Amino acid sequence: MPSVELWDAHAVHLLTCCALVLALAHPVAPSSRGAMAPAPTPNAPASATPTVQSPATTPAPVPVTPTTPAPGPAPHVWNVEYILWAPDCKQHGMIGINGAFPGPTITAYAGDLITVVVNNKLHTEGVVIHWHGIKQIGTPWADGTASISQCPINPGETFTYEFKADKAGTYFYHGHFGMQRAAGLYGSLIVLDRDDPFEKDPMYAGDLNMLLSDWYHEAVYAQAAGLERKDDHFQWVGEPQTLLINGKGQFGCTLGDVGKFQKGIHRDATKCDRRDGERVEAACDAGCERKGKGSEAEKEKAACEDEKAENCGVVRRSECGPFCRETQCGPVVFDVEPGRTYRLRIASTTSLSALNVQVQGHKLTVVEADGNLVEPFDVDDIDIYSGESYSVLLNTTAAKQVSSPSYWISVGVIGRRPRTLPALAVLRYAGSKNELPAGVPPATPAWDDVGRSKEFAKKLKARAGPGYRAPPGTTRVHRTIAMLNTQELVDGQIKWAINHVSLSLPATPYLGAYAYGIQGQVFDTTPAPATFHSSYDIEKPPQEQKPEAVQPVTVSDRVYTFAHGEVVDVVLQNADMRKHGVSESHPWHLHGHDFWVLGYGEGRCDPEQDLKNKEFINTVNPPLRNTAVLFPHGWTALRFVADNPGVWAFHCHIEPHLHMGMGVVFAEGMEERRLRELKLKVPREAIMCGKTALAAMARPLAPAATSPSPSP
Ligand code: C2O
Ligand code: CU
Repeated sequence: MPSVELWDAHAVHLLTCCALVLALAHPVAPSSRGAMAPAPTPNAPASATPTVQSPATTPAPVPVTPTTPAPGPAPHVWNVEYILWAPDCKQHGMIGINGAFPGPTITAYAGDLITVVVNNKLHTEGVVIHWHGIKQIGTPWADGTASISQCPINPGETFTYEFKADKAGTYFYHGHFGMQRAAGLYGSLIVLDRDDPFEKDPMYAGDLNMLLSDWYHEAVYAQAAGLERKDDHFQWVGEPQTLLINGKGQFGCTLGDVGKFQKGIHRDATKCDRRDGERVEAACDAGCERKGKGSEAEKEKAACEDEKAENCGVVRRSECGPFCRETQCGPVVFDVEPGRTYRLRIASTTSLSALNVQVQGHKLTVVEADGNLVEPFDVDDIDIYSGESYSVLLNTTAAKQVSSPSYWISVGVIGRRPRTLPALAVLRYAGSKNELPAGVPPATPAWDDVGRSKEFAKKLKARAGPGYRAPPGTTRVHRTIAMLNTQELVDGQIKWAINHVSLSLPATPYLGAYAYGIQGQVFDTTPAPATFHSSYDIEKPPQEQKPEAVQPVTVSDRVYTFAHGEVVDVVLQNADMRKHGVSESHPWHLHGHDFWVLGYGEGRCDPEQDLKNKEFINTVNPPLRNTAVLFPHGWTALRFVADNPGVWAFHCHIEPHLHMGMGVVFAEGMEERRLRELKLKVPREAIMCGKTALAAMARPLAPAATSPSPSP
């Protein structure tokens, strides 16, 4: 575990101070706030890191002075709060950071220590933030997954994330509690390379950053409630209302010429009308003069003011119509110089949608996927699923040949029948006026052409060189786990399940349970199933299987456990959903690791045969990634080395799917002898809730270094 030295000094310090505080604050009973509440630490010194700050102490964010010299940028201090925002020109309540949406972009250099002080200013819910793509080597408690790596930060409290930017690349961060990501809690995380291969190109002019997302007008609480309803009352979230580029989009209208540019959109899209915006603005500015005397005139004036308040709110708050750059709803304009090379960093944190990205009149060269360099290849467009990121090089046209001063960047839905208009941004050449490009934006490819998407996925090959190592050979694989993805009915609820087990997280985080040796009290320690029945027919829905092919479906918090250093193959197996012949794409994301994407296949995988077949499997230069797509009715084979002790989520990155149980948990390197070390190093604030808090109170002052190993 490199980088753990960083933790030693203050971990010990924290251990003593917090154990003391705990003992003082709660000599007998747990907090009345119940199992989920971390024990308050009112006397926690501001110099300790991480810190939990109780509401009773000063509410101002406490900048942290780490006890170890921290290389890298100054700490980021964030207030996570409810905000009113109009990301698509319609105002809604969202979760923002420091009063804005999306959250601030974090930029660091590889090797830097990133410190983020998160103040939870949400009055009614806990919060955690996950750093998607950061491996958290030696800092599993900083992964930001509620119920897995830490307790949610309570309203009014503070938690400090401190972790190493282990590898240069394009990443992002997002909430990982309930459906908070879909509520807008996300932002970009860019890790730069001090020795960047692309910057060496004399034509290189810089990075353009594009964070893609989708946006629903319905609040996530309502979305979640709909997904949990029973029997025929289940309510799917449906397609998003708007696609956002860097948090900006235009609801129900498009900046470019309407029509033809995406097949399958079944609603009357209109071209965004600036004049309309201006007209409304003028009306809003006109004021409500009192015409005449008496109570009638008074009433009229009041009615006028009411009407104004209602109609002008949105426009006012977003300042002007959709064509104004300063507005919260865009459009996004990327300014470029002719004849240069730009690195376009594209990441997708959509709740649901898979996307296709095109830049009118420009070819793209794919060079990075999920923070790993790939063998460059040229494309006209890229597919990007939720949880993925890419860097593409874009060469701007030489000055003499620039035919149009600006070009469309078009982002449309693929993989599901679109109901959402493509999002548009502008690539604007220097010297051109702030006008929108001429012509029709590039058409999104047919949404149901899965073959196209697979072809794109298969083009990715690792780029040899420092930072890449080929996977251990197939003969060195310790375990192969097959994971059948099905949609099932459990007690009237529609759930996603892996080998007939649907994930529901425990109230107490796994990591704390391991640190305190109370696994059995916190979750079901029966090993999660590593296979499914050989007679399961993936061309049929679960309810039409032969009885022997299916196990009863359970909702459970079981985990897969791996010994330190095990080489693991995972075969994700897709199948019919509950509807015959219907199977969806699922982007699976692993925390704490990159995996090698060995290959993709059709139908049912026979691991014995198929994983040795060079036709499907690449063990020479498979790409390292943290997210890989499982295509409809197919399989995807991954390999990783369990060399990062911690408890890690592995799940479908589609927010409602995860909410419906589409995930598993890997407990890695949690051998008895390591747990003592974990207990010593894990910041108490990360795990002091639920059963772990009770266990800590029962045994508060045992010096960790000499304590007998806890009995599970
Ligand atoms: Cu970005 Cu667990 O996910
Ligand atoms: Cu999914």
